[in-house]
Amino acid sequence: MKYTQLHGLTVSQICLGSWHLPASSEKYGDGILKVDRKETSRVVKKAVDLGINFFDTANTYHGTISETHLHPEHSGNAEKILGSCLEGYDRESIVVATKVRAEVARFPNGGGLSRKHISWQIGESLRRLRMKYVDLYQIHWEDQNTPPEETLDILNDLVHRGSVHYTGVSNHSAENMEKMLRISEERGYEKFITMQEPYSIAERDIEKDKVQVARKYGMGLLAYVPLAQGILTGKYLKGIPQGSRASYIKPLREETERLKSIASRVREAAETLQITPAQFSLAWLLRMQRELGITIVPIIGATSVRHIEENCSATEINLPDDVFRSFMET
Ligand SMILES: NC(=O)c1ccc[n+]([C@@H]2O[C@H](COP(=O)([O-])OP(=O)(O)OC[C@H]3O[C@@H](n4cnc5c(N)ncnc54)[C@H](OP(=O)(O)O)[C@@H]3O)[C@@H](O)[C@H]2O)c1
Repeated sequence: MKYTQLHGLTVSQICLGSWHLPASSEKYGDGILKVDRKETSRVVKKAVDLGINFFDTANTYHGTISETHLHPEHSGNAEKILGSCLEGYDRESIVVATKVRAEVARFPNGGGLSRKHISWQIGESLRRLRMKYVDLYQIHWEDQNTPPEETLDILNDLVHRGSVHYTGVSNHSAENMEKMLRISEERGYEKFITMQEPYSIAERDIEKDKVQVARKYGMGLLAYVPLAQGILTGKYLKGIPQGSRASYIKPLREETERLKSIASRVREAAETLQITPAQFSLAWLLRMQRELGITIVPIIGATSVRHIEENCSATEINLPDDVFRSFMET
């Protein structure tokens, strides 16, 4: 595994996410699939064995649900499972990121970025993770009802109280991110060290404006859904495999159709280089660091030990320049 810097924090070049964990075949009464805890623990162990020290979660993640705000009763399940999988490791050897913003309870102040909600949720996240602090605390998406000063003030307090070491931002417009960064500068608050955004060969919107913000403020990019939820692995080119994410997440099925042509181009290019499409897609993202002049850490999802092995090995692959560039225009 290679390591990189997010300000002073040293993290593995690959982060393991927990939005979707290995699913079991059992369901809750409301039809939601349960997480296969044993397989999750094998995946996390393999990740640590391969040198991954960086784990991402959110206060809202369950582990098999896509929507972040429609199932408050399942919130926090992924934090609990991740916490228990990481319990046997030295806390100082791992870096844990989580997020706050989603509706985690069906009452006023049950979500958002207010002082009240964040003060409540940091305690809940720490309790579920069974940890004394979170390395990176991220605001999951915008909250139009809370003044940015209020959010930044409580985040700054959390850093100074020691509950959080660093802060990060996710799914905010470039304009709002800059506004918050400027307020932090003016008030002498801790500044976001990362932005977490969707980024892959198939999704490059952030190159329009957010990358410039990352460069200007020295922020690392945590690239989420780097394999377009598995579509870039080519697994959906011949239909929907049983047990795959699209087999139980309906909206993803339409996405597999929309991204068919890019997935098949990636597969062809990977075949020529005798690597897998997943390795190609991740190696391409890592190579983009040099083009964009920013640090990029892909946050991968994995439902098997094989995924972890295959995806981590992408850090060792250097794509030939002409092949890399042929995907610059997509
Ligand atoms: N900030 C945000 O709003 C936000 C939003 C979304 C995600 N995220 C973060 O980003 C993380 C990653 O998202 P993601 O899981 O969608 O990432 P992804 O890496 O694009 O997709 C992962 C999925 O693709 C399949 N897969 C992975 N490697 C494979 C391989 N080598 N061969 C075949 N299939 C493979 C697996 O699904 P199946 O085996 O189930 O088919 C796996 O769960 C999340 O866990 C979360 O931490 C953040």
